[in-house]
Order: sequence, then structure tokens, then C-alpha cells
Amino acid sequence: MKWTLILSLILISISDVYAFHPDIYQPRVPKEILEDTQDIDNPFEEIPGALEKGKKIYFGKGLCVTCHSNNGKGVRLPGHSPRDFTDEKWQDIRSDGELMWVLKNGSPGTGMPVRVGKVITEEEGWQVILFIRQFNAK
Ligand code: HEC
Repeated sequence: MKWTLILSLILISISDVYAFHPDIYQPRVPKEILEDTQDIDNPFEEIPGALEKGKKIYFGKGLCVTCHSNNGKGVRLPGHSPRDFTDEKWQDIRSDGELMWVLKNGSPGTGMPVRVGKVITEEEGWQVILFIRQFNAK
């Protein structure tokens, strides 16, 4: 009896570890502010050197690489694994404003922590978003 219970608990936790979020394309931003958030452009788009700075933050003080990995595909995390940044459909659907919202608020219910205001500034957030967009470039 006891062993069956333990075994099923183990199986449940294993399946949890390998679960991707079922609705990966669902907006993370609350409905009431989604449209306004999507309208925000990245002010660093045209600024020389910004992409290079974003790369340094991704691999450095932002600690993004620990969860999102070198190639942007992400490491497996318990419960909810990070977004695959090389997924073209995901890249298309998400606006820069939405990514900034996630950097400022984290992604509730997942391991994505608040970054902007805690470990990086808003400027650095926009720069690292430029770098995340590069994972889509072929
Ligand atoms: C402790 C692990 C962890 C760290 C560190 C981390 N992330 Fe994440 N990140 C996640 C997880 C898990 C998700 C998936 C959240 C979701 O699907 O809503 C995610 C999702 C995201 C998303 C996409 C959300 C969406 O709209 O689908 C962006 C953008 C992002 N992270 C950027 C970053 C950046 C930039 C950094 C570094 C400054 C960073 N993350 C650091 C775990 C992490």
C-alpha cells in the first residue's frame, strides 16, 4: 500500500518536472492593460551598442542564462520551464512591451523572477530584450 503511494507521488513529481506550460502563447500581461502594454516600443531599438550591452546582461548580472540557457531554449525547471526564445511563433506573438512587463513583474505562478528594479534597471531591461530577439534571427 505505502509503496504504491510513494511510487505514484514520485511519478507525479517527475511528470511535473517535464511539464511545459500548456498555454505557452497566452499573454502573461493582465487583460485590462494588455493593449496599452503591447503598444509600447523598445526605445533602444536604434541605439548603437545597446544589443551588445543586452548580451552582457543576459550572461552577466541579469542571470538570465541560468534558466534560459546559452541558446535561449531554456533549461528544464520544476513545474514550469522557461520559454523557448527560438520559437518563432512565440517571438511573433509577444511585443517588446509585454516582455518588459514580465521583466518588471515576473511571470506569476512560474519561476520567472522580477528582474527590472531588482537586479537590472529599466534601460538594461530594454537592452536585454533586444538580445532575446536575436534568438529568432536565422
Ligand atoms: C530562475 C529562473 C529564471 C531566471 C533567472 C530568468 N528567467 Fe525568464 N523565465 C523563466 C521561466 C520559468 C519563464 C516562463 C514563464 C512563463 O511562461 O510565463 C520565463 C519567461 C521569460 C520571458 C517570457 C515571458 C512570456 O511572455 O512568455 C522573458 C521575456 C524572460 N523570461 C526574460 C528573462 C530575462 C531577460 C532574464 C534575465 C534578466 C530572465 N528571464 C531570468 C525563468 C527565469
